[in-house]
Amino acid sequence: MKVLVTGANGQLGQCLQELAPQFQNLEFTFCSSHELDITQQSQIEDKFSELRPDFCINAAAYTAVDKAESESDRAFLINETAVGYLALACKKYNTSLIHVSTDFVFDGTKNTPYQETDAVNPLGVYGQSKLAGEQRIQEILESFYIVRTSWVYSDYGHNFKKTMLRLGKERGAVSVVNDQRGCPTHAIDLAQALLAIVNAKNHKAVPYGIYHFCGNNEMTWYSFAIQIFEEAELKVAVTPIPTSDFPTPAKRPAYSVLDRSKWDQTF
Ligand SMILES: NC(=O)c1ccc[n+]([C@@H]2O[C@H](COP(=O)([O-])OP(=O)(O)OC[C@H]3O[C@@H](n4cnc5c(N)ncnc54)[C@H](OP(=O)(O)O)[C@@H]3O)[C@@H](O)[C@H]2O)c1
Repeated sequence: MKVLVTGANGQLGQCLQELAPQFQNLEFTFCSSHELDITQQSQIEDKFSELRPDFCINAAAYTAVDKAESESDRAFLINETAVGYLALACKKYNTSLIHVSTDFVFDGTKNTPYQETDAVNPLGVYGQSKLAGEQRIQEILESFYIVRTSWVYSDYGHNFKKTMLRLGKERGAVSVVNDQRGCPTHAIDLAQALLAIVNAKNHKAVPYGIYHFCGNNEMTWYSFAIQIFEEAELKVAVTPIPTSDFPTPAKRPAYSVLDRSKWDQTF
């Protein structure tokens, strides 16, 4: 089975590359943004006509949550328009699309885990653009998997864990928001989950649609920071603060725990 991975140099893309050797039955083609710019429909067409992939895992995205507030056009170009181009190519070449979305499609006003069927209401441009991408896929395709995840971290790229370790080492003390709750997700676990879809023996047994996948432990950014420093055996003073003490351009959901029971039942 042939698997095309876009955005191969991001956190998820690099974790997929790390896992690829364990899946000898799959023939991967990894494309960085330089090798395949998903905003260029002709590049997508060329790649799909050359490879004719069975699966396309879209690990490419505009992920700069705060910057998106002032770069709305770029965020929508990558997260909506380009995702539409991928969906059209998948339709033409009979490719199953596995697309990754986000907990930021929700507004965080619930206080129990979000299910796939819960009402969406993104608070900022990033979440709006990711939701628009989800909708574009559903308009174009019947055979798709949209996997919403949250608080992704890894040893690659930019993420909360790496930021905490850097600040902790530099300053010895950090203040971290303690009134936003979510589930940190290791990008390797996410990569493994996406490959479980590809590798499912009988794809008809894995119904197409939207799935929530995240780490199993619900926490705040503050408690996540404590865990990160404990694991790294780094002595850092961590002070809990309210979101109001850490203003950011983009508003974030106060509660974005995803209910992954549909995922767990399916796999
Ligand atoms: N990070 C999180 O906390 C989080 C939370 C929930 C959901 N997600 C979702 O999870 C997925 C993976 O996230 P991630 O953390 O792995 O993101 P990431 O590390 O920011 O990687 C995104 C990748 O997309 C590439 N890209 C950007 N524009 C592109 C384009 N026009 N064509 C091709 N590639 C392009 C980037 O390449 P360049 O570096 O060259 O620009 C980068 O390698 C995304 O869909 C994201 O929305 C992430």
